[in-house]
Amino acid sequence: MCGIVGYIGNKNCVPIILEGLKRLEYRGYDSAGIATINSVSTDVVKCEGKVSALEAMLNLNKLDAPLGIGHTRWATHGAPNEINAHPHFNENKDLFMIHNGIIENYQVLKTKLKKQGYNFASETDTEVLVLLIDSFMKKNLSLFDSVRYALNEVEGAYGIAVISKKEPDKIIAARKGSPLVIGIGENENFISSDVSALIQHTKRVVYLDDNEICELTKDNFFVKNISDESIKKEIENVTLELDELSKGGYPHFMLKEIMEQPDSITNAMRGRLLFKEGSTKLGGLQGYEDRLANSKRIIISACGTSWHAALVGEYMIEQFAQIPVEVEYASEFRYRSPIIYSDDTILFISQSGETADTLAAMKEAKRKGALVLGICNVVGSSIARESEAGVYIHAGPEIGVASTKAFTSQLMVLAQITLLIARKKSMSFVDGKKVLTELEALPGKIKKILEMNSEIEKIAEHFVDAKNFLYLGRGYNFPVALEGALKLKEISYIHAEGYPAAEMKHGPIALIDENMPAVFIAPHDSIYDKVISNIQEVRARKGRIIAIATENDYDIDGLVDYCIKIPHTLEILMPILTVIPLQLLAYHIAVKKGLNVDQPRNLAKSVTVE
Ligand code: M6R
Repeated sequence: MCGIVGYIGNKNCVPIILEGLKRLEYRGYDSAGIATINSVSTDVVKCEGKVSALEAMLNLNKLDAPLGIGHTRWATHGAPNEINAHPHFNENKDLFMIHNGIIENYQVLKTKLKKQGYNFASETDTEVLVLLIDSFMKKNLSLFDSVRYALNEVEGAYGIAVISKKEPDKIIAARKGSPLVIGIGENENFISSDVSALIQHTKRVVYLDDNEICELTKDNFFVKNISDESIKKEIENVTLELDELSKGGYPHFMLKEIMEQPDSITNAMRGRLLFKEGSTKLGGLQGYEDRLANSKRIIISACGTSWHAALVGEYMIEQFAQIPVEVEYASEFRYRSPIIYSDDTILFISQSGETADTLAAMKEAKRKGALVLGICNVVGSSIARESEAGVYIHAGPEIGVASTKAFTSQLMVLAQITLLIARKKSMSFVDGKKVLTELEALPGKIKKILEMNSEIEKIAEHFVDAKNFLYLGRGYNFPVALEGALKLKEISYIHAEGYPAAEMKHGPIALIDENMPAVFIAPHDSIYDKVISNIQEVRARKGRIIAIATENDYDIDGLVDYCIKIPHTLEILMPILTVIPLQLLAYHIAVKKGLNVDQPRNLAKSVTVE
């Protein structure tokens, strides 16, 4: 969740680190800090709040150094304040560390260090680790070995970068469970938790794997594992471009990403639709198609929005590929001794590819011998690399904390996987072609929905003061109801619940009165009449109703207060369209409340802690 940037070279590291931290701020933004070392001094500057606050302090301090590390934090242990902000350091202020992750046995280590005479300034687990490293340095071990010895005592997850005045020509970085990538430059090298902080300087990167430690100097690096064995690493080239990381004229990344969806879903199907065969070709699954199609059961596991995509996937695969599907929260899957058979396929979905719960669930599934596949957005991410095979959604960088374009692209890929299996089973060529034709038509239909942006903004005006919201849908659109509610609550802080529309009468209907807005996802599909009955039930109790309906549905107009009409498509693909007005509705409500939609409180983009 936290952002890490380190620099070693001939330039002043401060502007480079600040620029990198700004790009990483979506990962955590409650406090920030930087530590630098030059030939005359070591300096550390930290503050509560965003990187802009740190920048203001640094302007006053005018630091200049060729070596430094910086951090933007999402608090786990200890409140977000200056003392708990990273970098943490030893008493002499000559050893500094930044950390992403959680040291689980920090209490045990803290007690041990206290007995050795160490005092602690912060409430963080990170300070324990830096002082543990210090305790090894006091035994005259090198910085590299001190880090290695310390990590051998640590339980938990970490991505760390460490610098020391005693060895001012290097950065030591190590990873277990939290991403770290080295950027290789000319007479300069970088370390970061995310390639987006590096691409301005270099496209040549090395991804660290779990239990690896790297020593980085300005013109070299080596990697060993925690047992001191050398590891040969490949230098990879990233294709990400800098302009993909900017707002492109939009006021927020979230709006830009919503508006990008005609393109992002086009990218999710590029080169993958086989009209001649009425099927799909997914390069990342080559060689695994038959095993997948012959699975006795498919389990899909994920968190948050990706979990909602998984639920849609369940409806798709069961209906068309006729394989039983179970959907599991990754956080539950990893701890509940799931029964897994060797002819199961387990599909993990993650935008970031770094979500700690999903990654841990994936490792558990691998241990149990099933076929483990990944659906990820971030190329080279941990989940992408851990999976046996998988499919990239190619949505491009998603910076807004609320996931939008990744969701629709995940659904695109799930539909393509469904088609791939279904065509190997009972689906006819004609039906397969129908799905392909509709897939191809989706970008145009999304454009039409996006043209309704100002209409949706006007509807949003009426709900800025709402305290609660209900989102109701059935069948394929039940997960969309969950997703609509999640979007609203995470960026507007309005309490919202998603429910299967028919379940409403088993409890939530008690909440309905003239103050309760209910959003119905009611496209013209096989279950339309039933949803209309549920709308009637809310209407009879004076609830305020917003409906997402299909164009040419005039019957619904008299039943609801506001209606957003969207183009029609096949039922299996409808969630890709119905979710878009809900993204815009949540966005406009939050903006009208004056909230920071890209960086909502308490959240971070990739949840790399449990
Ligand atoms: O990167 P992932 O898809 O694994 O992330 C999973 C969730 O943390 C994520 O979808 C989260 O719920 C978003 N903030 C939703 O908008």
